[in-house]
Amino acid sequence: MTSRDYLTIDDFDVDGKTILVRVDLNVPMDPEENILDDMRIKSHIPTLKDLEDARVVLLAHQSRAGKSDFTTMKPHAKRMSRYMGKEVEYVDDIFGSHARSRISSMQKGDVILLENVRFYAEESLKRPAKEHSHTHMVKKLSPLMDIFLNDAFAVSHRSQLSITGFTEILPSGAGRVMENEITSLDRGLKGSECPCIFVLGGAKVDDSLKVAENVLSNGSADRVLLTGIVGNVMLSANGVDIGKVNMDFIGSLGYLDQIERGKQILDEFDGKIGLPIDVALNDDGKRVEVQVDELPADGFPINDIGLESIVAYSKEIRNAKTVVLNGPAGLAEKDSFALGTHEIIKAAVHSEYSIAGGGHISAEIRNLGYDDRFSHLSTGGGACIDYLAGMTLPGIKSLKDAASRYRHNQ
Ligand code: 3PG
Repeated sequence: MTSRDYLTIDDFDVDGKTILVRVDLNVPMDPEENILDDMRIKSHIPTLKDLEDARVVLLAHQSRAGKSDFTTMKPHAKRMSRYMGKEVEYVDDIFGSHARSRISSMQKGDVILLENVRFYAEESLKRPAKEHSHTHMVKKLSPLMDIFLNDAFAVSHRSQLSITGFTEILPSGAGRVMENEITSLDRGLKGSECPCIFVLGGAKVDDSLKVAENVLSNGSADRVLLTGIVGNVMLSANGVDIGKVNMDFIGSLGYLDQIERGKQILDEFDGKIGLPIDVALNDDGKRVEVQVDELPADGFPINDIGLESIVAYSKEIRNAKTVVLNGPAGLAEKDSFALGTHEIIKAAVHSEYSIAGGGHISAEIRNLGYDDRFSHLSTGGGACIDYLAGMTLPGIKSLKDAASRYRHNQ
């Protein structure tokens, strides 16, 4: 048995067992449902290889309800089959009779991937583990399983049903991705030296602001530099008129209320939060640089930070000893607006310890061929920064609780 406070695959005899594995296969997809980056799919292969003598039932999500890429797990199963060199069968059911009868007929070595677990609305309810464990999904699937493994580090900052519900009932442990994330991020945290800078971008504004508050108040970061949509929200909170089109976009994401919150954060952490001084507008595909105090009220969408911001941010990042990147600075998938994201990536690798998290920025790091130059590329976005901010991740806590129960009963 390992000396960790959670169990791993090494603690179980998996031979011939039926094992429910929660994985994170949430990947960027285009409107035709093509997978644009499969790093997360690939990341779980070592876990599956170590379960070759078991019957493996995979549970995963793709995107969120209401989003255009909220779709089935069929493309993921196909891609996974390619990496496994054998069929990973897609089953278009989560815990109904079709799924359960397929699980019951599985042979040793079989791997199946159940349907997008977020198609079941109860999955996304934020509830304590105990309550999740009383749901239909847990009641229907648990009796068919011997072991539960959580390999979905990237969603373990959410107390969702498939993350914490099964750990109350089944012997539970971490898969290889989870184990590697905890080990690597702990190593980073222990060795992290000042100054430490978090560079937060992307579109998950509420998550990023929560992390900014957290790392600045508990001292994990000396400075937080903002880019992306969260940067635009904070520019508005700072009194900058970012223009109607950008305000409308923030409204369409449901983040207008974050502007008020942003004002309080700026007051509380005066001087510790860096905002863009200029931005790049998208004028029908053309990059147009504008100072933030000269933004036209009826202008174009902000799609990147501007050149002066890139220079100022890069200088600060190069001087930091620890850098954590999360979320792209702009519309990095479009060449004209990838500059901010790419230059931040290039600056970050000069620090002693560099960590990047989140699907979009990790994809850009790989596109640039910089993956080996980071100390750790996390499969998690929000989960990675929450962990580094010292927050308790419900998915990890429930694994630790399950380990105590398991050890107590041995
Ligand atoms: C992620 O992409 O960060 C994880 O898969 C979690 O997804 P969520 O932010 O939609 O919960």
